[in-house]
Amino acid sequence: MGRELPNPPQSGLLNAVRFGDDTFRFIEAMQGRFEDAAAVPIPGRAPLVIVTNPELVHDALSRPAEFSRVPASGPAALIATQGLVQSEGDLWSQQRSIMGPAFMGPQVRAYANTVGRRVETLVDEWSTAIGEGDSITRNLHGEMTALTVRVASEILLGEDIGRERAEQFHSWMQVAGDEFEFSLDAVTPEWVPTRTDPEFKRAAEGILGLAEELIERRRADLAERGPDDDQPRDMLSLLIKAERDPDVEYPDNQIRDEVATFLIAGHETTALSLTYTQCLLSKHPEVRQQVREEANQVIGESTPQYDHVSDLEYTGRVFQEALRLYPAAWAVFRQASADVRLGEYRVPEGAAVIMPQWSIQRDGRYFDSPEQFDPDRWLDRSAQSVPAYFPFSSGPHACIGRQFSITGARLALATIVQSFDVDVERSALNDLRATPTLRPGGPIESTITPVE
Ligand code: HEM
Repeated sequence: MGRELPNPPQSGLLNAVRFGDDTFRFIEAMQGRFEDAAAVPIPGRAPLVIVTNPELVHDALSRPAEFSRVPASGPAALIATQGLVQSEGDLWSQQRSIMGPAFMGPQVRAYANTVGRRVETLVDEWSTAIGEGDSITRNLHGEMTALTVRVASEILLGEDIGRERAEQFHSWMQVAGDEFEFSLDAVTPEWVPTRTDPEFKRAAEGILGLAEELIERRRADLAERGPDDDQPRDMLSLLIKAERDPDVEYPDNQIRDEVATFLIAGHETTALSLTYTQCLLSKHPEVRQQVREEANQVIGESTPQYDHVSDLEYTGRVFQEALRLYPAAWAVFRQASADVRLGEYRVPEGAAVIMPQWSIQRDGRYFDSPEQFDPDRWLDRSAQSVPAYFPFSSGPHACIGRQFSITGARLALATIVQSFDVDVERSALNDLRATPTLRPGGPIESTITPVE
């Protein structure tokens, strides 16, 4: 069944150390050296397979039975194992079809309008804090988390959790990020340490507790409504209503796991992407100026809303290009469920398979001057037409929230840029960490100055 995958020359142990030590450099080195994929032998276990060819990535992602999820264990198992991000097979497919309508059509409009209102409030908060002064400093990542987690809770769960809970959520996510610092452990479950940091346990309990509280309130709210009332289409309402369907079977804690999953997946990558885009804009004032001109023209003095989104075309390209260079989901992880074929190669059973957006989206074989931040590279190319660009993954497990983030990000970025220069140190993006998402090594201190 197919050829053996090529191996990097160093010894297995050395590779394991290099992989854990500087994941991004290691993956970039594999990308530069191997055209299709490489199998990194790891002593005592199945190899680590790094896929470097985008066509093979899409092939693997279209075959979830052969390239299955990496089972959660250790700390990861504390958060929402049955939710949509970690489930598979029949449970996943039942849940994806129940929740699908919460991410389409009118819900995209509702999401964008919620972002519009929230970001307008954020602009007011920053303006009030600046008052008669020149500027304020804020942790940009914290601000973007508070913004996106409130939008996610309002639109998916029917309730805004408020600024204080959103800030608490940011600190829980920081703790979770520390616990999940990337190494081989993250993709080879048998290596996962049994020790779980008590602080992480508290953060996980906090997230699950918040989920339970939100569910209880939503249940009460739905019970109060008469059958003829306008039925809400948010995700949590759809999940609660599906319980009454005789064809739907939920394992224990299913709704809680979905809510916790969406509280995390629904905001984290979006907050990171908004943060990285603004760091790039701070480095490229000429691009920022162009975004500002577009925002003034399209949004002007009105409240940012869905109807503005399609005209924020340049801002859309800026976000698209930022997702290429700083993909919040820096790799997709799978495990070979048997000996399987990928292209002309054999991937052995149990192999951890890494498909890195980080290095494929920066490969000169697929992008001219790949290190350059150039929104205009997308002028005559759509994102869908470039296989080497897959920030939302592909195949049946591709991101369910893609449309939400694309529309919401345009409004959030345009509105912020319209009112402020958000400036960060030039080195702000030098210290990034490979957790399951691409996270900053510390707070991203930013200086926020009103536009004259
Ligand atoms: C810029 C923002 C975002 C990025 C870069 C992103 C990226 C991704 C990627 C790469 C995957 C595939 C993971 C895999 O195959 O293992 C994914 C899946 C998923 N995303 Fe997103 N995402 C974003 C925003 C969102 C939002 C706003 C939501 C919810 C409102 C969301 C919910 C999910 C869920 C539930 C899945 C699992 C889908 C499934 O397996 O059926 N994401 N996302």
